[in-house]
Amino acid sequence: MAAPPPRGGRHAPLPIGPLTGPRTPLRRAFARACAGLNRGLDWLPVGRWLHRRIHRTLQFTELDLPLADGHAGLDGLRLAFVSDVHAGSFLDEHDLCRIFAQIAAAAPDLVLLGGDLINTRERELLLYRGPLRLLRPPLGTFAVPGNHDHFWGPDIGLWTAFLEDQGVAVLLNRGQRIERNGASLWLCGVDDLTEGRPDLARALAGRRQGEPAVLLSHHPDFFFEAAAVDVELTLAGHTHGGQVRLFGRAPIHHSRFGYEQGWFRENGCALYVGRGLGVTVLPIRIQAPPEIPVVTLRAGVTSASPGAPRVP
Ligand SMILES: [Fe+2]
Repeated sequence: MAAPPPRGGRHAPLPIGPLTGPRTPLRRAFARACAGLNRGLDWLPVGRWLHRRIHRTLQFTELDLPLADGHAGLDGLRLAFVSDVHAGSFLDEHDLCRIFAQIAAAAPDLVLLGGDLINTRERELLLYRGPLRLLRPPLGTFAVPGNHDHFWGPDIGLWTAFLEDQGVAVLLNRGQRIERNGASLWLCGVDDLTEGRPDLARALAGRRQGEPAVLLSHHPDFFFEAAAVDVELTLAGHTHGGQVRLFGRAPIHHSRFGYEQGWFRENGCALYVGRGLGVTVLPIRIQAPPEIPVVTLRAGVTSASPGAPRVP
């Protein structure tokens, strides 16, 4: 866990639960057993057939986020948030190319990769070379790592180097100013809450007074810290919306605070938890279809409820 942020005085407790939290030897053994099952199922043609059926239900969720006055140049800026692809299991490069072509067709200004690009092997990253070439959004592609990206490599260095080599800016506890029509946005990212060393203070270093900020955090529970320092929007994944939902609830989820999917608000700040693209362990999703949220910033629009889904 990183050093606590200097402002706000509120820090996210480490997540808890049977499938998340600090990696004790028991949890590591459990994760490796799940990966073994996952790889075994991946050998079976039925696994990929099931996953392709899931991807026919992929949803591009169009959302609006109103900004305070004074940022008119950001009006209409579109952010596509792509998380939890878990490439390599049930998904090959051809599948990724098809999905990334759909993302490009949604015409985002920025594509934001929210972690868990790979599933159980570091070499799964190589599947992204062709798909990433299909994106090329005008204001860039950015990424933060997830727990799987950390877990299956010796360190995050190779993951970072590969993406940077492909033209993806990795926001590992850092931010970058996005300028548009005379206005600016502070786009930043933190390391994964469970496997990495998130440092929000470093991610926000350089943000101007009053500048809107968008934070990428693989784990949604980091919103606890982001909301304390007035980050307008946090985009997170990790939960897969539960992946399996029964009677409207997820029996297994990964958020201590119940940030399973969709919008949450605290302290005037917004969190959107996307359900992500892929699956882990089993190639099934029940009442939790894959999702790519596309957030459009709205300047000069007042709304008491940021995040009401917009009818495409
Ligand atoms: Fe994750």
